[in-house]
Amino acid sequence: MTKARVDPDWQVRLLLIGPPGAGKGTQAHRVAEHYDVEHIATGDLLREEVEAGSDIGGRASDAMQRGELVPDDLVFDLVMPRMIAAGRANGYVLDGFPRTVGQAQEARLTALDNDVAVTQAVLFEASPDVMVPRLLERARSEGRSDDTPEVIRARLAVFDEEVEPLLDFYRDRGLLAVVDATASRDEVWAALQRILDGEGTTEDHAR
Ligand code: AP5
Repeated sequence: MTKARVDPDWQVRLLLIGPPGAGKGTQAHRVAEHYDVEHIATGDLLREEVEAGSDIGGRASDAMQRGELVPDDLVFDLVMPRMIAAGRANGYVLDGFPRTVGQAQEARLTALDNDVAVTQAVLFEASPDVMVPRLLERARSEGRSDDTPEVIRARLAVFDEEVEPLLDFYRDRGLLAVVDATASRDEVWAALQRILDGEGTTEDHAR
C-alpha cells in the first residue's frame, strides 16, 4: 500500500540524494519496478549522450571525467521533459538530480507549474569507508570510467560541498527522510518502502 491509498492525490515522485556509491541507482531500479514509476538517472542519461557522441555528450564529457558537475542547462534539458511526462503519468524516481540547491529551486518552480513536484526526498547516509570500496569493486566489474580513486575523491568532495543546503531545501518543506545506506541492499529497500508506504514520512531515520 502506498501513501496514495490514504491520499488519492499522492504520487510516488521520489528524489534520492546521496554520495557516490551510496546505492541510489540500485534502489531506484527497485522503486521504479515496484511502484511502476519512471527511473530518471542523470548520470545514465549523460553517459548515453557521451556514448552517442551527441552535442550534449560532448559538452558534458570533460566535467564527468573529472568528477565535477556538468552545466545546469544540459541537465535541465535532459531531465525536465522526462520529469514532467512521468509526473503526468504514474510518477518518477529521480536519481542524481537535483544535486545543488540552485538546481532544486529551479526544478521545483517548473515542477510546481506542471503539478509534478517531488513528494518525498530521501538521503542515503553513508561514509566514504563504505562507498569507496563499493565503487572500486564496481570499477572492476563494470569498468565505469569515473570510478578511479582520484575521480571518486573529486565526486565525494563535490557532494560534500553541495549537500547541506540541498538537504535544508527539502527539510524546510517537510519532505526529507533518511536511510542508513550502509545496510544491506534488502534492508535499505525495506526502509525505503516504509517511507513510501507512509510509515516514516518525514525525517528522521527509517531503519
Ligand atoms: P552519477 O552517475 O549520478 O554518479 P554518482 O552520483 O557518483 O552515483 P553512483 O552511480 O556512483 O552511485 P549510486 O549511489 O547510484 O550507487 P549504485 O547504486 O550504483 O553521476 C555521474 C556524473 O554525472 C557526475 O559526477 C556529474 O559529472 C554528472 N552529473 C550527474 N547528475 C548531475 C547533475 N544533477 N548535475 C550536474 N552533473 C551531474 O551502487 C554502487 C555500487 O555499490 C554498485 O556496484 C552496487 O551494486 C553496490 N551497492 C549498492 N547498494 C549496496 C548495498 N546496500 N550494499 C553493498 N553494495 C551495494
